[in-house]
Amino acid sequence: MAGVTDLETLLVDAAHHVAAYRATVPDATVYPQVDLDAVRAALGHRLPDGPCPARDVVDQLVAAVEPAVVATTGPRYFGFVIGGATAAATAADVLAVGWDQPAYNHLSSPAAAVVEEIAGAWLVDLLGLPPGASFGFVTGAQGANTVCLAAARHKVLADAGWDVERDGLVGAPAVRVLAGAERHATIDRSLRLLGFGTGVIEPVDTDGNGAIDVGALRQVLAGRPSGPVIVCLQAGNVNTGACDDLAGAVAAARVHGAWVHVDGAFGLWAAASPPTRHLVTGMETADSWGTDGHKWLNVPYDSGYAFCAHPEAHAAAMAYTAAYLVGTAPPTVRSPGDYVLESSRRARGLATWAALRELGRSGVADLVDRCCGLARRFATQLTAIDGVTVANDVVLNQVLVRFDDDDATTDRVIECVQRSGECWMGSTTWHGRRLMRISVSNWSTTEADVDRSVRAIAAAVRAARSGESVRHL
Ligand SMILES: Cc1ncc(COP(=O)(O)O)c(C=O)c1O
Repeated sequence: MAGVTDLETLLVDAAHHVAAYRATVPDATVYPQVDLDAVRAALGHRLPDGPCPARDVVDQLVAAVEPAVVATTGPRYFGFVIGGATAAATAADVLAVGWDQPAYNHLSSPAAAVVEEIAGAWLVDLLGLPPGASFGFVTGAQGANTVCLAAARHKVLADAGWDVERDGLVGAPAVRVLAGAERHATIDRSLRLLGFGTGVIEPVDTDGNGAIDVGALRQVLAGRPSGPVIVCLQAGNVNTGACDDLAGAVAAARVHGAWVHVDGAFGLWAAASPPTRHLVTGMETADSWGTDGHKWLNVPYDSGYAFCAHPEAHAAAMAYTAAYLVGTAPPTVRSPGDYVLESSRRARGLATWAALRELGRSGVADLVDRCCGLARRFATQLTAIDGVTVANDVVLNQVLVRFDDDDATTDRVIECVQRSGECWMGSTTWHGRRLMRISVSNWSTTEADVDRSVRAIAAAVRAARSGESVRHL
């Protein structure tokens, strides 16, 4: 075991490693050509029989893993929807790990509980959610959707006279669940985990950009007798960035007494900036919302938030206790564990507090606007290249790109770009066509990064058309 002095040197050195790595990221190969066997060999194949000095452990880890690290924190990583981790948020997460606080309740970590209390209230304010909305700091939007839909399950069944926490779903009144045809796949997994099954979903048609068709929603709602109903809406289609007409959809759902959940993993952040706020007008009229910190707020992985307009339903679905968990006096701070799936969890609130403190209201708005502007820049420059088309209406930070209107060419271009190391964007199939999928979600991305990435894509197009080896880019 390392002593105190050794630990200090080790932690300082680890921080230096991270800082040195982050300094290289803006110019590094975005996606290393990873030889996983080399990583395996460097980590060692067998469980060691005995101990090893901490210093050697860390050195071995750095040597083995760093060459394989994907520069997701860098300015030309445009894959999935991955934010870049701001400086203060990164440092705060280091503190969270170092302090090693189990953020269950006021006894296990009063400090973590207070930080969450404040950071959660800031998020509610920033996103324009109803004052007093409850919040849980979860792992991501998947966790948020699950927690929020558990709260929904509680409330719609309680209203029907059924105690789902006590009696489960066997014999419960049937719950209808409606969701857009282009909902995120995590909604389905949440419904699986909550015992509804995916078969319960009544899919609702979406429009040309992947937002729910409110007329179709009304029709599907009216198609069967009302009872307990949950409607899942979306702010930010994972492919196109499209946001549902939340005001219209919530109004339609209210006619049937539905609980309305909004999956806003990244799109909810449109609310944090005046130029994009209109995309989510009416979102505050819903009942629950899920979003991520590790996407557009640029908090390190993992970080997400489950918000609920009905704190009592939220807690009823999540909270539990045991004799050994309560203290001798009533708590004077909100209990984080009452609003999430886990008991033991790291103090996630620290990094969120730090990102919000670092950026402030204007900094978050600027981050959202900048990313949207850069997405439009991508779209404009790419469509100027012969044979390149943008397939979606670029309303937010997502751009879908097609090459020579051909699936195989599109895949070849994506592969060329990914291998170039200049930038990294993923692929998708949307409305039956293969597409390059660009997500601009990183605080450090500049116009120069977009221009450089467009040049890399143009080179990839030439290579893909000529059949040139992608390695020669
Ligand atoms: C709309 C939407 N919902 C949910 C998720 C899942 O988020 P996470 O991976 O953070 O759980 C995503 C991820 O991209 C998303 O875009």
